Amino acid sequence: MARPKIALIGAGQIGGTLAHLVALKELGDVVLFDIAEGTPQGKALDIAESGPSEGFDATLKGTNSYADIAGADVCIVTAGVPRKPGMSRDDLLGINLKVMRSVGEGIAEYAPDAFVICITNPLDAMVWALREFSGLPVEKVVGMAGVLDSARFRHFLAVEFDVSMKDVTAFVLGGHGDTMVPLARYSTVAGIPLPDLVKMGWTTQEKLDQIVQRTRDGGAEIVGLLKTGSAFYAPATAAIEMAESYLKDQKRVLPCAAYVKGAFGLDGLYVGVPTVIGAGGIERIVNIALAPEEQAMFDSSVEAVRGLVAACKGIDSSLA
Ligand code: APR
Repeated sequence: MARPKIALIGAGQIGGTLAHLVALKELGDVVLFDIAEGTPQGKALDIAESGPSEGFDATLKGTNSYADIAGADVCIVTAGVPRKPGMSRDDLLGINLKVMRSVGEGIAEYAPDAFVICITNPLDAMVWALREFSGLPVEKVVGMAGVLDSARFRHFLAVEFDVSMKDVTAFVLGGHGDTMVPLARYSTVAGIPLPDLVKMGWTTQEKLDQIVQRTRDGGAEIVGLLKTGSAFYAPATAAIEMAESYLKDQKRVLPCAAYVKGAFGLDGLYVGVPTVIGAGGIERIVNIALAPEEQAMFDSSVEAVRGLVAACKGIDSSLA
């Protein structure tokens, strides 16, 4: 059977890291697309030349032509601009919306059957716009946010508790970043919920609140340190986890920016919710009951996403 074809739209920091991970994990053959001439070709060749040492079998091709993504099984989109210090994700909206139009049209023409994972920020609005521009089924277009946010949360919790991060689970809902809704009662160490760990004296509520805030600001913390761009290793790894679940029909339960209609009382909006990702794309949305304060946080997250979608419609009248 032929290897899956994985198209990476955007060959910048995240795109290059994605290509490297796909090759190392032998998830499939890679087509790295970018508008910058030479960048995708150079990165593809550089990674391919690591193959003999690593011992992976994968072909890598860099391109400036959408025709080369033809028939891709998975497209991961990072095209656009990242944040600089002092910028919010929302500041990227105007520029990246135009990029989503060209990417959406390219995918619609050459890879209409692909499972599409959007990483470009501001995530919840860009994945919505990408779906609109591409016209692909909603269950095949999804945004990467929750896996990254929960990975950051899990990392901080594992350090705080001095336990393996393998035994730490975290449950997050809502938009990417500032309006993220961590659900402490569903976040655990080996099944023990965080509120119980506070009662057991493993940590204090105050420390937990600080960790939640640090998680919300996780992207900005990296931007502040790097100064020239935003996070790329962890975002790439998170998207690969989602792509692998689709390609191998793993049916992982992963928080993603998915199109929600009906569940959580929503009437059709991309927002971060727990999903099941399998061969059908987003196969299920895990619709849990929220406590009043969780619902309030989720509602304000939903409002923030609605605001960004309205801003997109204001900029591009074809979306209205
Ligand atoms: N089509 C294809 N590629 C494009 C386009 C376009 N219309 N416009 C820009 N690009 C490419 C750039 O040439 C660049 O190589 O997108 C790439 C983006 O790479 P980086 O600037 O290194 O950004 P990166 O760190 O990879 O982040 C990409 O993901 O997390 C988000 O906020 C982040 O929106 C940003 C995106």
